[in-house]
Amino acid sequence: MGGETQNKPLLRALKGEAVWPPPVWLMRQAGRYLPEFRAMREQADFITRCMTPDIAVELTLQPIRRYGMDGAILFSDILILPWAMGQDLRFEEGRGPVMTPIRSEADLARLNEGRMMEAVAPVREALRRLRVELPAETTLLGFAGSPFTVACYMVEGGSSRDFAHIRAMMQNDPALFDKLMDILIRNTAEMLCGQIEAGAEAVMLFDSWGGILPPEAFRRYVIEPTRQIVAHIRARHPDVPLIGFPRLGGVMVAEYAEKTGINALALDTVADMAKVAEMVPETVTLQGNLDPMILLNGGEALKTEARRIRDSLKGRPHVFNLGHGVIKTTPPEHVATLVETIRDV
Ligand code: CP3
Repeated sequence: MGGETQNKPLLRALKGEAVWPPPVWLMRQAGRYLPEFRAMREQADFITRCMTPDIAVELTLQPIRRYGMDGAILFSDILILPWAMGQDLRFEEGRGPVMTPIRSEADLARLNEGRMMEAVAPVREALRRLRVELPAETTLLGFAGSPFTVACYMVEGGSSRDFAHIRAMMQNDPALFDKLMDILIRNTAEMLCGQIEAGAEAVMLFDSWGGILPPEAFRRYVIEPTRQIVAHIRARHPDVPLIGFPRLGGVMVAEYAEKTGINALALDTVADMAKVAEMVPETVTLQGNLDPMILLNGGEALKTEARRIRDSLKGRPHVFNLGHGVIKTTPPEHVATLVETIRDV
C-alpha cells in the first residue's frame, strides 16, 4: 500500500480494510446547518458558489475545520454536469433546481458535450487547491450523479413527485432515452476522470432515484451504466476507489454491488447494514447509514444508534455516514457529538 494511503483512514477503508474505529464523513456535511455556510450563501448564487474555486474550497473546508471529518467532499452538485453541457439551471428557494426540460430529439441536439470539460475547469481547480490545503490524513472525494438520476432532473426539468415525463420517455421513445443515457454515461466517466486527475482520491456516484424502477429497468438503467462508468474509470485509474449509492435500491443493492464493480456500497436509512453485509462480498466496503432525523434530534438516542450501527459492522470494512444528507435544521453540536461517539472506542 502506498505511503499516501497509509495515513488516510477513509482511503484505507474504501480500499477494503476494516479500519477501527470506522472513518466518518457525512453527506451534505457542507450545508445550511452551519452558520459559516449561511454567511457565504448570501455572497453568491448556488452555481457561482460551485464555479468559483475560492468559494467552493472554503465551503468544502468548513466541516473539516469544525469536526475533522475523515473525508472532504467537494462542494458542488450533481446537476453541474447538465449545466456544463449547456442545459440551463437555477435554484429557486422552496422549489429546488429548475431546468428547461429535455423531452425531444431537438432538445437533446442542443446539448453541447464538446464544452463540458472546459466548463467544469473551475471544479478541477478547486480540487487541486484542496489537495494542498487539506490535512494529510483527510481523503478528498469527488462525485457525480448517476446517469439515471441526472436524467430524471434533465427530463422532468427539476425535482418531481411522480417522474411522469421520464417514465413516459422510457416507454414511448426508448431510443431517445438510450441516446440521453449514452451521453450521460460518457460524460460522467470523463468528468470523474478529470476530477481524479485534479486530485480526487475516491469518487462517489449518487443514484438518488434508481429506486423508482422495477428490477429489469434497474438492471438496464442503473446497474449497467454504473458498470460501464466503473470500467472506464478503472482502466485509467485502477487504484482509485469508487463508491456507489443506489438509494432506495432495496434488495437490488446486492446485485448492484456484485455486477457494477464498485469498491464501496453506500446505503440509505432503511437498509439493515448487518443483513446487507451478509448479501455482498466481504471485499465490498459498506458506507452509511444513520437516519439524518436521529442526528437532528440528538440526545442519547443519537449516541445509542450511532454505536449500534458502528458495532454491527465491526470486522468489516465500513465508512460511517448518514443514510441521506444532513437536514438543514440540524444543530451543529449534534454533528460534533456524532463524530466523538464514533471515535470513542
Ligand atoms: O454533500 C456535500 O456536502 C457535497 C455537495 C453536494 C450538494 N448536492 C450540494 C448542494 C452533493 C454531493 C449533492 C448531491 C445532490 N444534488 C443529489 C444527490 C444526493 C441526494 O440528495 O439525493 C441530488 C439529487 C442533487 C440535486 C439538488 N441539489 C437538489 C434537489 C437541490 C435542492 C434541494 C436542497 O436541499 O436545497 C440541490 C441544491 C444543493 N446542492 C444545495 C447544496 C448545499 C442547497 C443549495 C443552497 O444551500 O444554496
